[in-house]
Amino acid sequence: MLFSFQNPTAIFFGRGQISAITDQIPENARVLLAYGGGSIKKNGVYNQVTKALHKYQWQEFSGIEPNPHYETLLEAIALVKEEKLDYILAVGGGSVVDGCKLIAAACCYEGEPWDIVTRKTPVEKALPLGCILTLPATGSESNGNSVVTKMATREKRAFGSPLVRPQFAVLDPDTMKTLPERQLRNGIVDAFVHICEQYLTYPVEAMVHDGYAETLLKTLIKLANSFDQQDDEWRENLMLAANQALNGFLGAGVPTDWATHGIGHEITAYYGTDHAATLSIVQPSLLRAQLKQKRGKLRQMGRNVFGLHENPFLAEQTIDAIENFYNKLHMPTRLSHIGVGNNEQLKPFLKTIDSRDYLHDMGEHANISQKEIKEILVHAL
Ligand code: NZQ
Ligand code: ZN
Repeated sequence: MLFSFQNPTAIFFGRGQISAITDQIPENARVLLAYGGGSIKKNGVYNQVTKALHKYQWQEFSGIEPNPHYETLLEAIALVKEEKLDYILAVGGGSVVDGCKLIAAACCYEGEPWDIVTRKTPVEKALPLGCILTLPATGSESNGNSVVTKMATREKRAFGSPLVRPQFAVLDPDTMKTLPERQLRNGIVDAFVHICEQYLTYPVEAMVHDGYAETLLKTLIKLANSFDQQDDEWRENLMLAANQALNGFLGAGVPTDWATHGIGHEITAYYGTDHAATLSIVQPSLLRAQLKQKRGKLRQMGRNVFGLHENPFLAEQTIDAIENFYNKLHMPTRLSHIGVGNNEQLKPFLKTIDSRDYLHDMGEHANISQKEIKEILVHAL
């Protein structure tokens, strides 16, 4: 194993922690308060944030969409530049946090911000960024990743840089009380797949990584089986599990996959499907396609996570168990569940896959390119 790992995001976890932001944002900062479609105005979060910001100069930008649109973020970037704001405060789910990461980087860049998203230009500088998370799912609150969609070309692309990792993240599970059940289910599945992308590869005897991944996977299954949004401990455990699932440690020094995500982004860009729903559709099909390469880890997961017994079909049964887990959570596991029922309907989407030249060499063995992606999609019908 060989890795360097640093996660400098300060975490403020628990009830009432929103007020902690006053100690984190420099006194003379000119703050952009950025948020989404307005859920924070309905659940008291906006009031708590503006109260905490009373001693700062600040302006707000609202309307960052789920799967944040590049075109909208350009408006925010213009506002920050025009008003000479110098601190970005993201309040919302992964989409708002991701959007703010591009805002933070693009405000220090003179060229076309899309070059940052497509990784044509590496991030060399970014404004400081802090966040208040209201939806546990992505881990974006303490990682350096961002996913942005250009509506003009329907491209959903991801970039990453330690420079856009939030300086602090407030995780107050009370903010989750107003989440629609659909978003909580999405959160459980997104976090589950994040762990799988870093665990379900091939064995490298990383006992600490594997043990932690298995604990988090079992936690998410337990939370799914005891779904209770109004329970304090339930919300706390989900918020912490989703954070730990993608704060960078699980993937440090071990093989990682991320092909389910790469294919899922294409589905969202084309059909508008929720991020987590794309994962529950793609992953079972991808695991079946990659069964030979992933057999060892699938067997380990079957034993240690699902409590299955040793037998020649353990790997296959583990994939079935994952699929059943999603079905029990009322997540789609087939393209037909989102209205794409046959080859004819799938055809135009497969054509789009062919046109995306960045879709190649995905997965821990770099053996998933456009041809394999199309096979995975056909088998997911
Ligand atoms: O916009 P508002 O009004 O706030 O409503 C949002 C939105 O409609 C709502 N919501 C959030 N908190 C709420 C709430 N409603 C009521 N009460 C609350 N407390 O939930 C809806 C979905 O929000 P969104 O931020 O889109 O969800 P999520 O956190 O699942 O983020 C998804 C995005 O993150 C990307 C995804 O691809 C997708 O674009 N990801 C980012 C990652 C990263 N940066 O590391 C990794 C992930 O794999 C993922 O790709
Ligand atoms: Zn995800």
